[in-house]
Amino acid sequence: MSFNQLAFRLKRLYLEASFYLYVEETKVAKKLIPDYLDKLQVYQAGKPIEEVAREKGLTHISKLASNENPLGPSPFAIREMTSALWDIHRYPDMHATDLKNKLCELYKVKPANIILGNGSEGIMAYIARAFIQPGDEVLTADKTFIGFHILATSAGAKLVTCPRTEDMKYDVKALAKAVNENTKVLYIANPDNPTGSYITEKEFDYLMQFVPKHTIVILDEAYFEFAQSTWDYPDSMKYRYDNVITLRTFSKAYGLSGIRVGYGFAHENFITALHKVKLPFEPNLIAQKGAIGALTDYPHLERTIRNNTKRYYETLKFLDHRNFKPLRSTTNFICFYTGSEEASDFLFNKLLDRGVIIRPLKANKLPDWVRVSIGLKEEMKHFFEAMDEVLPEYNQKFRPDQ
Ligand SMILES: Cc1ncc(COP(=O)(O)O)c(C=O)c1O
Repeated sequence: MSFNQLAFRLKRLYLEASFYLYVEETKVAKKLIPDYLDKLQVYQAGKPIEEVAREKGLTHISKLASNENPLGPSPFAIREMTSALWDIHRYPDMHATDLKNKLCELYKVKPANIILGNGSEGIMAYIARAFIQPGDEVLTADKTFIGFHILATSAGAKLVTCPRTEDMKYDVKALAKAVNENTKVLYIANPDNPTGSYITEKEFDYLMQFVPKHTIVILDEAYFEFAQSTWDYPDSMKYRYDNVITLRTFSKAYGLSGIRVGYGFAHENFITALHKVKLPFEPNLIAQKGAIGALTDYPHLERTIRNNTKRYYETLKFLDHRNFKPLRSTTNFICFYTGSEEASDFLFNKLLDRGVIIRPLKANKLPDWVRVSIGLKEEMKHFFEAMDEVLPEYNQKFRPDQ
């Protein structure tokens, strides 16, 4: 055998050996992943504007996929964040004293009743870390906010979900029946994402009669600011059950999704336990300052709600007239019916071609529905025009009888 042939054989042997080693390593890595994590799907966010611009070569894009504030952040928040940039060589105040004081002033609570985190989802992650152990029973409604499903499942919880009512609301009676001594956590998104529905004050009171004192109730009020003026919406701050934690966020009405800051109110003992698992410097300095600025700018919040209310009714009417059976919503988004996964995909892709990003809901187990966030007047006009362009082909394909 020549030297070259020998070298070739040796190289081949080496490559084969490293391949088998790699396969073995992959198998070992797989074994290290718990089964419940292995089966879990990674969270899918709304398609980013930059991605659509790149993929479609478009410049006029309306992102109506992630329930963000179309007015942007408050200038007060920007001012606070900009001046904080000079201090980013320092760690932030780990107690976030100024932000907590501001929240105390607004909500008449004590700092010991407040937890802050990287978005309200960050706080949900602390709850999962502090309280949920593999096998624990977690109860919620079917097809509700997917972020919570992912967190509970990733902690190894046994997720129990109740079907919804025919009009897609939380079935409070079914939840009351399902809750039991073994329920560790009951999760209620109020208002709910992606349906936009809410449970009323009366329904909440009814449900709480069945909830054991040792069950943690998460009231996720990410869209509180949009719902609060609805007459029978329960403001959970008026109820102070020791086992209820209220979660709110700066990501929606306050327009600060990008800096990740959320807050929660609960009994002191509860908050103390959460602080034990919380990373010390969350939220970061910029987030703390931005949130303070946002809370100071009440007119910006008012403008946000005013725009949302106007555009919401226009959008509802538009979708109603075109027979999409939009669900009534107390939030900054509307969920509407397409009839099939194929129709949802068609609509999503055709709107995307026209620069309008909406949200398909297959991941939420609602493949025959899509969701559109409420944007500015111009953005909704873009959506309406794109829809009307697509509609003849859509109707021909999916609603030939109309
Ligand atoms: C119901 C609900 N809860 C929580 C969140 C997460 O918000 P945050 O940005 O505060 O983590 C969202 C975001 O879409 C949501 O819809």
